[in-house]
Amino acid sequence: MKDTKVRLTRQAANTVEADLLVFWLDKESGEAGDLHPFLAQGLAPHLAAGDFPKKEGETALFYSQDCAAGRVVAVSADLGTDDINDSFRQAGGAVAKQCARLRVKTLALALGKNGLAASLDTSQVQALVEGVLLGDYRFGKYKTEDKEEYQGIETLTLIAPAVTERLKTAASRGRIAARAACLARDLAHEPGNYWTAKHFAAYAEKLRKRHGLQCQILGKKELKELKMGGILAANQGSTEAPRLISLDYKPESYGKTIMLVGKGLTFDSGGISLKPVEGMHEMRYDMCGGAAVLAVMEAVAEERPAARVIGLIPATDNMPDGGALKPGDVISHYNGLTSEIISTDAEGRLILADALAWGIETCQPDCVIDIATLTGAAIIALGHHEAPLFSTDAKLTAALQEAARRAAEPLWPMPLHPTYDKQIKSDIADLKNTGGRPGASCTAAAYLRRFVGDTPWAHIDIAGTAWNFTEKEYIPKGPSGFGTRLLLEFIHAQTN
Ligand code: BES
Ligand code: MN
Ligand code: ZN
Repeated sequence: MKDTKVRLTRQAANTVEADLLVFWLDKESGEAGDLHPFLAQGLAPHLAAGDFPKKEGETALFYSQDCAAGRVVAVSADLGTDDINDSFRQAGGAVAKQCARLRVKTLALALGKNGLAASLDTSQVQALVEGVLLGDYRFGKYKTEDKEEYQGIETLTLIAPAVTERLKTAASRGRIAARAACLARDLAHEPGNYWTAKHFAAYAEKLRKRHGLQCQILGKKELKELKMGGILAANQGSTEAPRLISLDYKPESYGKTIMLVGKGLTFDSGGISLKPVEGMHEMRYDMCGGAAVLAVMEAVAEERPAARVIGLIPATDNMPDGGALKPGDVISHYNGLTSEIISTDAEGRLILADALAWGIETCQPDCVIDIATLTGAAIIALGHHEAPLFSTDAKLTAALQEAARRAAEPLWPMPLHPTYDKQIKSDIADLKNTGGRPGASCTAAAYLRRFVGDTPWAHIDIAGTAWNFTEKEYIPKGPSGFGTRLLLEFIHAQTN
């Protein structure tokens, strides 16, 4: 994957070499007479014609001999909106789009005087870097014709009045978070025939070698020995062996232990309860939870926060076959609970249940968060703009919502009331794996709750947000990488 270099400099803006130099001007400063001489000169015709600055996002492009950069773009900004950080992210995304049009490889952004703002908050710098790198995303791997020559921004230079440690950390966090989200998008784009359980395992193995994360991979044999009946059941019709992948980042000293569990369903046909043709191809994205967890683990390995973070990914595809799981079958989970299969298409909870029970028993984390494209009902409930959040713990809910706000990956709290358990009672087993159409996201969460005991737990259903997430400058169509940045924000907050 492309790795854009991000650097900081306090050089004078007009001396920085780049294909494009960007200034943001708020409406007032554009008219004031205190602009950089080369900026005032370049913008003079635009100002005289009254074309700039007008409304937010308006751009003025000019070329100047008094400037080392090939081109200069001034952007009219109104950064006084409610969510200031996300305005910066969107501004960054808009610049990335401009860069693609102009084939810009080296980009410089002026942050100081006559730039974005005189004194930028570090979280705004982080958001700006995220916006540029998230907006500069493309996936062309499987195109052989009309392959684009332009491969995006190679270097991003931030021009600041002073290069402080806080600024460096902010820029680095932005780079790492955006890269992680772009990795999650890449993995989601990978088709079901190129990305299976063994590919998840191979990537985890790579992280072990490269970053020294502890890595444990349970194959079919180990899953049988451990009696993980849920993962084995979902995998039963497949020719690809399942895996349960565990990555453990354990720094020398740490406070909290955080466990993340991501649904890594590499293709969901529905199994014997086969899905309709229309839209079935989209079920290659059913591993977006697993992709987010893998991407977070790589980011954590690079950032090295003072928390232990464990990432679990139960991975398989869900296929029909003569030997596949059938409606009416009864299976037995890792914790011994039995489940009557009503629909083989409700497979996500089967694999998550085993992973949750096993992970909690073996690692005893302070909290567990699972993230999964679990139910179509999540899309019916909240659309593509927010993700349902279920949790047994009020503090965890608050911390996740705060992280979600900072990342602009919103979570909406949903009920996890015991009354939903009624719908998943079985006549012949402890549980049944669906509770019908009413409240289908809630009954799925109620199912998972039976596997977490007293450990503070949260479940994020990303069925509606993992792809075609709400339209924004820095969010492309298709996979969004949703959850990656919010989980990283959550982890950071747990180390304070
Ligand atoms: N992976 C799907 C959920 C899904 C559906 C994600 C649409 C994104 C878009 C999941 O495995 C599934 O099939 N869930 C069923 C559950 C039902 C049988 C209780 C669903 O939502 O229809
Ligand atoms: Mn399914
Ligand atoms: Zn699924």
